[in-house]
Amino acid sequence: MNTTVEQADFFKTLEEKSDGGKLRGDYSQCDARYVVKQNWETYTPEQHELWRRLYQRQAKLLPGRACDVFIESLRKMDASAEIPRFERTSEALYKATGWEIVAVPGLVPELTFFEHLANRRFPVTVWLRDPEEFDYIVEPDVFHDFFGHVPLLFNPVFADYMQQYGQGGLKALELGGLDQLARLYWYTVEFGLIRSEQGLRVYGAGILSSGGEIEYCLTSPQPRRIALQAERTMRTLYKIDSYQETYFVIDDFQQLFDQTAPDFTPIYERLKQQPVLAANTLLPGEINIAPNSR
Ligand code: PHE
Ligand code: FE
Repeated sequence: MNTTVEQADFFKTLEEKSDGGKLRGDYSQCDARYVVKQNWETYTPEQHELWRRLYQRQAKLLPGRACDVFIESLRKMDASAEIPRFERTSEALYKATGWEIVAVPGLVPELTFFEHLANRRFPVTVWLRDPEEFDYIVEPDVFHDFFGHVPLLFNPVFADYMQQYGQGGLKALELGGLDQLARLYWYTVEFGLIRSEQGLRVYGAGILSSGGEIEYCLTSPQPRRIALQAERTMRTLYKIDSYQETYFVIDDFQQLFDQTAPDFTPIYERLKQQPVLAANTLLPGEINIAPNSR
């Protein structure tokens, strides 16, 4: 890869973020869009074994907690036995919703990320965590990205939401709305809850790939659970090093799509005049949805 000025900046930020530590991914082979070959042959038997353990632990937790479409799509993806070959799933995904999976070395710059989403390509990290990181990992790895994010892309409405989000990201870059938009991503794509006839369910990838939060977010009396309101959510700070203090709840994916479809330009303007809200805020008049008893 030819390192452009923009990419050099990106690597510098990444290094700073990881405390001057070295970058996790191998960025030496990627193209201008940060895409690499998955090189599936290079995964070791130990890594496939670790994948199986991660998968099995997590799959057991899904019934009664993950939303139905996630469980169904995941089953059809048939990825329990080994680290999946992206190409295989990508083909099935393309047939279902026109989305594709692209392999990336790890985190990519915002602009690149938004461009992929806007073109219905989902970037999936190629490397797998170390065994010591079984329960918790800071950066997204292939298990989080593939297991957590890919299943919902088989749902047509959610798939459209993700594309719309990518387009919105490109716009937010122009309008200075990145922080606001990132909060929406966090509280929906990563940590979203959804209602079902049987009670609250999880659709957020950050929860679905986590061993502990998947139970906590549904049953603990501690966090707030508030009906999603795009503008309110975009004001709300979030925690990156603990379970969430607030979860935002949607009725269905159509509601998510519809709420975020309007032009955000005036919203970003309004939000700039308002203070941000702490992660544990409950505003007057807001209803705190009761945890599910199980
Ligand atoms: N409608 C938003 C805009 O005009 C874009 C967006 C869509 C943002 C979906 C988030 C999710 O900027
Ligand atoms: Fe993620």
